[in-house]
Amino acid sequence: MNPIIAPSMLAADFGNLQRDVEMVDRSVAEWFHMDVMDGVFVPNISYGPAIIKKMASYTDKFIDTHLMIVNPDRYIQDYKDAGTHNLTVHYEACTHLHRTVQAIKATDMQAGVSLNPHTPVSLLEDIIQDVDLVLLMSVNPGFGGQKFIENTIGKTAKLKELILQKNSSAKIEIDGGVNTETGKRLVAAGADVLVAGSFVFKSNNPEQTIQELANCG
Ligand code: DX5
Ligand code: ZN
Repeated sequence: MNPIIAPSMLAADFGNLQRDVEMVDRSVAEWFHMDVMDGVFVPNISYGPAIIKKMASYTDKFIDTHLMIVNPDRYIQDYKDAGTHNLTVHYEACTHLHRTVQAIKATDMQAGVSLNPHTPVSLLEDIIQDVDLVLLMSVNPGFGGQKFIENTIGKTAKLKELILQKNSSAKIEIDGGVNTETGKRLVAAGADVLVAGSFVFKSNNPEQTIQELANCG
């Protein structure tokens, strides 16, 4: 099956956000991936709800927001108001993950949980039925343009197994170092959604590159 493509707007030209949102809007990408970084959970700062709200105003497509922040509970409503459809928090940033997931769902957003490269999928055993999405980080979060961590392929297959075993409807999303080569292997291992930043925005023809990623299925 063809994967859902979620271009990461972290790699867009921040001086031309409307132009870049409109390019993705014209493409076959079904989702927009918005990376929020607080300089505490990760060693970088990106953008917050005001910028996402502006970007979301240029499209009707699905807004997938990835929070790489501590204390995400404080901002759930802000990201809902900004136009987010799926809100993903980090397993490593949430002491009371079940409570956070329920709070996200109470706003009618979908809820995702993300795992850093060192965090095993087995830790999701008791929450997998409650989440709409699991995002596996295939680089250490914080920056675009990093090298894909190979272990993610086996990890994707393990997660797929857990989802089937627990009868969960969670989608598998992979984020970091995704291109058509890693993309094909990820989809074969069970990935449903591919996030891609530099591979899309640094290419000569981003719309065509998005199409090529969608053909990874
Ligand atoms: C990294 C972010 C990613 C990043 C991916 O912390 O979560 O979404 O933008 O960028 P590429 O595709 O360039 O690895
Ligand atoms: Zn991301």
